[in-house]
Amino acid sequence: MPSRKPSIGGNWKMNLDTAGVKELTADLVNAVDAATTEAVDVTVFPPFPYLAPVAGALCDAGSQIRVGAQDAWAGPNGAFTGEVSLAMLKDVGVNTLLVGHSERRHVVGEGDTLVNAKLLAALDAGFEVVLAIGETLEQREAGQTDAINWGQMGYGLAGVSAQQMAKVTIAYEPVWAIGTGKTATPEDAQKAHAAIRAFLRTGLFNDAVADAVRIQYGGSMKPGNAKDLVGQPDIDGGLIGGAALKADDFAAIIAAARATA
Ligand code: PGA
Repeated sequence: MPSRKPSIGGNWKMNLDTAGVKELTADLVNAVDAATTEAVDVTVFPPFPYLAPVAGALCDAGSQIRVGAQDAWAGPNGAFTGEVSLAMLKDVGVNTLLVGHSERRHVVGEGDTLVNAKLLAALDAGFEVVLAIGETLEQREAGQTDAINWGQMGYGLAGVSAQQMAKVTIAYEPVWAIGTGKTATPEDAQKAHAAIRAFLRTGLFNDAVADAVRIQYGGSMKPGNAKDLVGQPDIDGGLIGGAALKADDFAAIIAAARATA
């Protein structure tokens, strides 16, 4: 089986304040050492106001934990009130962009075309990209899990070359499992991940891309279930929400991923 470096993301969503961000960042620096970041790629996604301080604190501490943004505008700087450009993000030390998260798809109303535009712009700007995909409960119950994942990948990755895929991570996040405490069983998650990888292999790209792309699982991943999830052959890490707000829990999940490396 091809070996892929595990990849763990911490999606802080719209949580914390200045003091909480400072404390969590310092705790993460202590809990996640250099040997760990050698073995596992770790990225945190703070809210916009905290990106610069978190990037600065991690850099000052010599940490290899990367900083990602939860969203960005797909175009260059200019007259777009309220938006934040990739150039600005890069300027403050951000090198990863999360696109397609279900809260942006289903709460904010972002469609596949916009997700694709952001992903292409981020790759053009030299960012790593995490493309989140996943089905709702209704879609799962209708047997549409793979079709939804394939559709969101087909649209989301339109125009991306096989070479550019080296900078893309897929995050499979069944919508019904996000923040609900309900986790896909390791077997169900593995089944979905295998189908995602098969589509990369035969539908969109080739063997080399399919074997190399990391596919994270997201949806109520916690220290207690991380080992069984990341132990599956096609699960290469996780995108963590709630448990990423506690340094010890996040570090325990990273340790579980490291144990598989
Ligand atoms: P959760 O969130 O771990 O709180 O379910 C995951 C995510 O939305 O990325």
